[in-house]
Amino acid sequence: MKNRPIGIFDSGLGGLTVLQAVSRRMPEENLVYFGDTAHVPYGSKSRETVTRYSLEVARFLAGRRIKALVVACNTSSALALDAVARSLDVPVLGVIQPGADAAAAATRSGRVGIIGTEATIASGAYTAALKARLPRVRVAPLACPLFVPLVEEGWWGHRATALVARHYLGALRRSGIDTLILGCTHYPLLKGVVRRVMGPRVRLIDSAEQTALETERLLLSLGLRRQGGRGTRRFFVSDAPKRFLKLARRLLGVRVGTVELHAFD
Ligand code: DGL
Repeated sequence: MKNRPIGIFDSGLGGLTVLQAVSRRMPEENLVYFGDTAHVPYGSKSRETVTRYSLEVARFLAGRRIKALVVACNTSSALALDAVARSLDVPVLGVIQPGADAAAAATRSGRVGIIGTEATIASGAYTAALKARLPRVRVAPLACPLFVPLVEEGWWGHRATALVARHYLGALRRSGIDTLILGCTHYPLLKGVVRRVMGPRVRLIDSAEQTALETERLLLSLGLRRQGGRGTRRFFVSDAPKRFLKLARRLLGVRVGTVELHAFD
């Protein structure tokens, strides 16, 4: 059982930030990644659609005999985590709870900002997770839909991105938050520009790092942590594997040897 892979799934490419964090923390683990590139973006879709896509991917990964599943996509975690967890007989972890826990631990003022896709923000999932931990927390949620395409264009240092960030985050900066959750797989790549807009006093919470930590805790608690050696990596996408390969290398510097295609009917 310990040698079985951890499944990591995202709507596309961005979940590789979680894969990288998991890899850094647990290099011995075998990992199997699925990017649902045929259906990306999830962030502008309905709960029903995101749930249907997420269940398809989860079932496919269950078929790869995974020992645990990490739903690296914030949108899927926000909208479909319970449905996915009910459909599998291995532990399932999303990115919302780890991110909210880290933010609750970090905030001193009790004012926390959350940025994410339209669907993640509309779901209220981060707000609910934060309030469960810190009932008096004051939350400032904000959808930043242009951030994902800007990242995928490789424009995180571009002045257009700085302009968009200033536009989106201006009100948030004035709202007095001391902690900001980067509630989308792509946003860790915008840390620099977000930090410049928000200033040094606002703590940025990267749910990728936090999720890797929680995944390790979960595996240890279940006696499922693989020991020694170097783990394997396997990558699947539901469309355009060459594009995924190119973007993974260009955007994240992730060396993806082979990307296998698994198209859904
Ligand atoms: N992976 C998505 C998320 O973390 C962002 C991309 C999308 O909209 O599918 O919310």
